[in-house]
Amino acid sequence: MRESYLCRTPEEMENLGKEYGKKAKKGTVISLRGSLGAGKTVFARGLARALGINESIVSPTFTLIQEYDGSLKMYHMDLYRLSSEEDFIALGGEDFLYSDGVCLIEWSEIIDEMLPSGTLFVNIKINEDQSRIVEVTDERSRS
Ligand SMILES: Nc1ncnc2c1ncn2[C@@H]1O[C@H](COP(=O)(O)OP(=O)(O)OP(=O)(O)O)[C@@H](O)[C@H]1O
Ligand SMILES: [Mg+2]
Repeated sequence: MRESYLCRTPEEMENLGKEYGKKAKKGTVISLRGSLGAGKTVFARGLARALGINESIVSPTFTLIQEYDGSLKMYHMDLYRLSSEEDFIALGGEDFLYSDGVCLIEWSEIIDEMLPSGTLFVNIKINEDQSRIVEVTDERSRS
């Protein structure tokens, strides 16, 4: 599976997140990829809204993981500051990869090997005009 979208504005990115939120199930894991400011958190916000979560969604950079209660639980991680897989395990992160909720992970490259099969990869690229190309795939080998 490989799908591509063009998001011209943050609103369009949020709406795309909402669409994936509607399809999310218990145990869904989504790896959000793209450079700083690509729009990973905007996508996560939209997904949260689809689960009926109305709190503000920001990158949990300093908390590592943020939990939200919606129609499904949402676990939002940002591993930017994590230095190893071992740290992830020590912090109990593995439980969230096999949970009763939806797990969204920004900067998951460091735990690539641990991501469950079936993980959805959302790859965001910034265009010169600030629009975003979003490619969603469940394939591990990607460019
Ligand atoms: N087409 C677009 N889609 C998404 N965001 C956009 C778009 N155009 C501009 N933006 C802006 O880009 C920023 C994206 O920020 P966001 O926090 O979602 O990035 P991020 O990928 O989570 O970055 P970080 O790695 O720092 O957590 C927002 O300020 C948003 O308003
Ligand atoms: Mg972010």
